[in-house]
Order: sequence, then structure tokens, then C-alpha cells
Amino acid sequence: MRLPKAGTVEIVPSILSADFARLADEIAIVESAGVSIVHLDVMDGHFVPNITIGPPVIAKLRKCSRLVFDAHLMISEPGKYAESFIEAGADHITFHIEAANQPLKLIDKIHNLGCTAGICLNPETPVDAIKSVGPVCDMVLVMTVRPGFGGQNFMPEAAKKISKIRDIVGPDIRIEVDGGIDPKTTPIVVSYGADTLVAGNAIFAKKDRIAAINAIRKAAE
Ligand code: DX5
Ligand code: ZN
Repeated sequence: MRLPKAGTVEIVPSILSADFARLADEIAIVESAGVSIVHLDVMDGHFVPNITIGPPVIAKLRKCSRLVFDAHLMISEPGKYAESFIEAGADHITFHIEAANQPLKLIDKIHNLGCTAGICLNPETPVDAIKSVGPVCDMVLVMTVRPGFGGQNFMPEAAKKISKIRDIVGPDIRIEVDGGIDPKTTPIVVSYGADTLVAGNAIFAKKDRIAAINAIRKAAE
């Protein structure tokens, strides 16, 4: 599965707020809503103060879904683990600029392993940090909350970086935004130039996940 080319707005459900005892069913529900990508939050209890899933869970989910698996690695030493996530079935690997010693080398490695690559920056990290890396990525991920937990409040100042990043990477690279995305914050990030909208709580904390996705879609228009 390939990340869709830039030029469309994609709503990307994050399973962090889904029912972890029924992950395959939860993914099937959002797939039936017509999304192309699902966001898998990987946390190591070191880079962020929470722990979620690793390659074994992704490998099992891979057998249940044809969606693009967007793995968001919130881990230290991403270079050490990227290959295991690709082997498990991730289609796109995003790692944090704050965690990587040799980001350009890691992007090359991910590309050589047949995946698309993304770089992520925390709310406090300046745009300059990804100036050389952004243009060689397939997608830049802008955090609009501090990574680690779902359901936090959107940080408007962090979202403002999207416009600057769009200037740096041009129209052909996706800009993904993650944290506090809902029908209210969606028009703001889309107006700055984001096209790939991750939403956890705004989808999986709602009883009707499909209606929740459609509400974000409508807000993006
Ligand atoms: C947070 C994760 C997000 C999380 C977003 O560290 O990276 O992907 O699921 O959750 P919401 O949409 O609830 O802010
Ligand atoms: Zn995420």
C-alpha cells in the first residue's frame, strides 16, 4: 500500500483512542468510511511518557486491513527499529527529528526498504530543524499537542508552523497534522496548508465513528 500522492485531503484515524481489545474491528469500521490511511502511534515510554504497541501488533493488524499503515514512531533510536516496523507491515514510517542522530541517513534507509518516510517535529521544535530533511521526505508531521496522549487540547501556535513548512517543501509533499484535530480545528490547519489530518479522540471517542469522520471531512472543504 502506498501513501496517496499529495493533492487530496485525507482524514487519518489514529487508533490511540480506539478500543485496543477490538483493534481489527475498529480499523474495519473506519475503512468502511472510505479513509485510505490509518495512523498507528508507537510509544516507547522513553521518548514519550506512555507505551503503546510494537511490531507484533502491527503484523497481526496487517493481515486484517488493506489501509495504508502510517506508523508514527514516538521512540528513541528510531534507526534501530525502523526495519522491524517495515517488516511488520508499515507502509509509511515517521520518526521524530528530536530523536534522530542522522535523519537523512534514516530517510534513505526507509526509502531503500520500499517505504515512504516522514519527519515529525514537536510543538516546541522550530521549523528550521527540518529545513534540510523536509524536502527529501514524503510527508512532514506537525505535532499540535505534546506527543504521548490522545484527547489533548490543540496548540494554535504550533499549527502556525504549517505555513512555513509548506513554503519549504512545496506542493508535492504531504503535511500531516496530529493532535486535537476535530471539526473546529480542521479549517485552521487546512488554511495553513495541511492536507493529512490525524484524528484520534474526535473519531474513536464518538459512538458513530463514520459520522465523526464525515464531520471532519465536511469541515475540511
Ligand atoms: C499523540 C498521538 C496522536 C493522538 C492524537 O501523541 O501522536 O496521534 O492519537 O489524538 P487526538 O486526535 O485525540 O489529539
Ligand atoms: Zn500520532
